[in-house]
Amino acid sequence: MAREEPLLAPRPSSDHSSIRNAEEEDALLTGIRTRREQRRGWTFWKELGLFTWALVATVGVIVLSVVYQHETSRLDDHSKGPWGPGEKPTGKRNLIFMVSDGMGPTSLSLTRSFRQLTEGLPIDDTLVLDKHIVGTSRTRSSSSLVTDSAAGATAFSCGFKSYNGAISVLPDHSPCGTVLEAASLAGYKTGLVVTTRITDATPACFASHVNLRQYEDRIAEQEIGEHPLGRVVDLIMGGGRCHFLPNSTDGSCRGDDRDLVGLAKENGFHYLDDRAGFDSLNGGAEAKLPLLGLFASKDIPFEIDRRTQDDVYPSLEEMARTALKTLSEATAHSDQGFFLMIEGSRIDHAGHGNDPAAQVNEVLAYDKAFAAVLEFLDQDSTPGIVVSTSDHETGGLSAARQLHPEYPDYKWLPSVLANASHSSEFVKKKLNEFLAVESNDDAQRKYVRKLLEEDLGITDATTAEVFAVLDPNSPYDTQYVFADIISRRAQIGWATHGHSAVDVNIYASSLKDAWPLVGNHENTEVGAFLADYLDLDVKSVTKKLRSTNAWSASSTDENGWLGDPLGEDVRTEGLDTYHGEFRKRGLSERDCGCGETH
Ligand SMILES: *[C@@H]1O[C@H](CO)[C@@H](O)[C@H](O)[C@H]1NC(C)=O
Ligand SMILES: *[C@@H]1O[C@H](CO)[C@@H](O)[C@H](O)[C@H]1NC(C)=O
Ligand SMILES: [Zn+2]
Ligand SMILES: [Zn+2]
Repeated sequence: MAREEPLLAPRPSSDHSSIRNAEEEDALLTGIRTRREQRRGWTFWKELGLFTWALVATVGVIVLSVVYQHETSRLDDHSKGPWGPGEKPTGKRNLIFMVSDGMGPTSLSLTRSFRQLTEGLPIDDTLVLDKHIVGTSRTRSSSSLVTDSAAGATAFSCGFKSYNGAISVLPDHSPCGTVLEAASLAGYKTGLVVTTRITDATPACFASHVNLRQYEDRIAEQEIGEHPLGRVVDLIMGGGRCHFLPNSTDGSCRGDDRDLVGLAKENGFHYLDDRAGFDSLNGGAEAKLPLLGLFASKDIPFEIDRRTQDDVYPSLEEMARTALKTLSEATAHSDQGFFLMIEGSRIDHAGHGNDPAAQVNEVLAYDKAFAAVLEFLDQDSTPGIVVSTSDHETGGLSAARQLHPEYPDYKWLPSVLANASHSSEFVKKKLNEFLAVESNDDAQRKYVRKLLEEDLGITDATTAEVFAVLDPNSPYDTQYVFADIISRRAQIGWATHGHSAVDVNIYASSLKDAWPLVGNHENTEVGAFLADYLDLDVKSVTKKLRSTNAWSASSTDENGWLGDPLGEDVRTEGLDTYHGEFRKRGLSERDCGCGETH
């Protein structure tokens, strides 16, 4: 330092104004005028100004508080108002929890740019979700840094970490009470809306308990009320019909001959299995609970394919709107509201397939469903919130890709995705149907080019690519080959056909209520928030479930109602260690383990 000065040097003595002002402030506080005659005019005007300001401010505060009270009483007839730090929410309220399965931060960047291009929007246009981001969630499970959907959803439903594959059971294979079960026991109406099988991991974790996610037949039984607590779900919409049909029926994927649709009807369920049935609900106005709507044998098609089969399958947004209206009307005259879980299930599947065109359309469909929920909350007379998050990221998606050894140009090309009108899953199915009846090589190659052009918008496929699609010895699924042809052209990268460990975003309708979720959280804290918001006693549900360990469904099993705890290779706690896997799984070993469990 060139000049040394004491830190607390006195202010320059030439600053008379500070002394003068201090004197005048004194005068204002005490009401005694300063002695100096020459200051009198200034003081007078200052006092008058302050008085006027105080008057205006007081009137303003009164007006604002009246408006505020009017607003809060309009929104919140039964409650005392916002839930502040250190308080509990009170009064009748609804909770909607949305899961964007497999949607990571890159999915959002990709979809935003895609939408700006296809809809001619400015570069600062964002998704509805973007406007409601509140935090991020850390996703690891008890058995791995990379979670699966079962452990991910158990963190949300029970508020506990468990092992990959666990459906609301803990690492010791004991059941844990879920927010949906607790809500049901507390008098709330409950619902599950998904685009995959209703027996898949995410919905399963809210309304059933099994030791392995693969026990989908058993999950289906619990969902329709063969459950130690009785029926806990009032509304079910999604796919997965095949697990409800006896194995003697066409379109069944059950291992036994139990007719769960028949049983559900006996338990009072109103059953629907097609678009006409869905339409008959008239947006929820004509719906009766309990309701079982199974609109696809397995998955509802990807949005990019569904939109051309709108007369066959409802969209996620349509199902969400209908479920909200149904549950809202069913609880109109009760003291408790409802809990609804809505899942954009197949963002994950697009990630597993490394299909960027399918992915952006799934995210857009989810964003629309989220907007529909916000609209509902805005218009409904019962207060409520929506919280939305992902269980994990899928695919290791990257919004750039280096294709050559040379240093890359900085770009990725959404126009390639915009050219695709179908998913690679859809195109693969079409190709297989063609190959089943056409064995001529030339005709097959022509057909592949036709599919690439008409359904994927690829007009410059190389001969090598066409051969790769048709190669019977290819180590890759045909679907993956199609998806890779698109991804390379769009310069979109993927690290895996499985999940990744990156943190995912948390969204909410209002910070007023979702303040505990601001910032970076463990996924179990999201689960804890759900139970806290409805002030539910999940622990007592866990106790009830454990005291019924002897409970057995009509299908008896020596392992009890949770099923065999030991699949082939189930590690429930502690991280796996290095064992040279990078060498063991060469090209010769074809099983990448990517097909079955998401
Ligand atoms: C159908 O289920 C019954 C038991 O419920 C079983 O005995 C039979 O083998 C099953 N059939 C098939 C084809 O899986
Ligand atoms: C989109 O498809 C058209 C033909 O339908 C083709 O001319 C154009 O090059 C494609 N654009 C991109 C970015 O692939
Ligand atoms: Zn998942
Ligand atoms: Zn998955």
